[in-house]
Amino acid sequence: MLGIETSCDETGVALLRWEQDAPGNGLLSHTLYSQIKLHAEYGGVVPELASRDHVRKLLPLVREALGQAGLAPADLGGVAYTAGPGLVGALLVGASAARAMAWALGVPAIGVHHMEGHLLAPLLEEDPPEPPFVALLVSGGHSMLVEVKGIGDYKILGDTLDDAAGEAFDKTAKLMGLPYPGGPALAKLAEQGRPGTFRFSRPMTDRPGLDFSFSGLKTQVLLAWQQSDQSEQTRADIARAFEEAIVDTMIIKCRRALQASGAKRLVIAGGVGANKRLRTELAAAGEKDGFKAYFPRLAFCTDNGAMIALAGAIRLAHGQHQDESVQVFPRWDL
Ligand code: KG4
Ligand code: ZN
Repeated sequence: MLGIETSCDETGVALLRWEQDAPGNGLLSHTLYSQIKLHAEYGGVVPELASRDHVRKLLPLVREALGQAGLAPADLGGVAYTAGPGLVGALLVGASAARAMAWALGVPAIGVHHMEGHLLAPLLEEDPPEPPFVALLVSGGHSMLVEVKGIGDYKILGDTLDDAAGEAFDKTAKLMGLPYPGGPALAKLAEQGRPGTFRFSRPMTDRPGLDFSFSGLKTQVLLAWQQSDQSEQTRADIARAFEEAIVDTMIIKCRRALQASGAKRLVIAGGVGANKRLRTELAAAGEKDGFKAYFPRLAFCTDNGAMIALAGAIRLAHGQHQDESVQVFPRWDL
């Protein structure tokens, strides 16, 4: 299975060998091109530039992935691509290329939901989680708690009412003057922050429910930053308090979701899943409460082709693929 991801600002391509319960399954190669530098001077992703850059990078990356795996196009059994949600122009680049390749090779093409890709990414690791499990999906566009009863059997337990977790990281970083992309920069700065110098609220944890709301936190940070001496140390202290607030909030909601569903396994996926504090604190919470936390490797938390290849391969194994029309879904519920 060839997997193609072009929903936002990373071009990801991967090759995966996957047959239901067959030995020797696994990732054969994966390549990624990040457009971070291209968008940095604008302080955010410029959709038109993103699409054009996917056009330039996609086929060279496909060739590179085939070369790394020692495969020829004729060896492919299917082509999976992200069909949504995401930037419409960026999605269309991956969808058109994937459909054209599949048609030329006479193999099925499978349009994958980007968040299902994230959700299944931990299955690429050794000791993969077996459903049922609860998944915390936290990326630049989503913050969701999902009960996974089986593959394709998803129940949304909680969602964000405003900013997604990654978006909150990015916007908060920006308002304290950190360069794009802010999330990882803010997390790095937080490592230098002193504990207890600032404290922000844990939004929506004082009432029942599993929804998130992070935009108020951003405002709290803005006020604290504006009223501070704006020194480097203060910036790090605020970054730390912000990270603690957001991580604590996610842990409280994960515990509730596990209790509500009775699941003993928690999967963390999406770009914010790369956050070190979140990873260590969730693993510790698991040891205390008796659940096991599963994370994809860091490179498969953020956008990548491998998770799309896997989601596509699993769907194809269940007989699911679409007609030849090139359709994308910029907004698409899981
Ligand atoms: O999953 P992803 O690559 O793209 C989307 O589907 O949105 O997630 C990107 C998001 C960005 O908002 C980025 O700031 C955030 O993940 N992110 C992090 C970290 N690494 C990436 N947020 C906090 N800590 C990190 N270490
Ligand atoms: Zn993503």
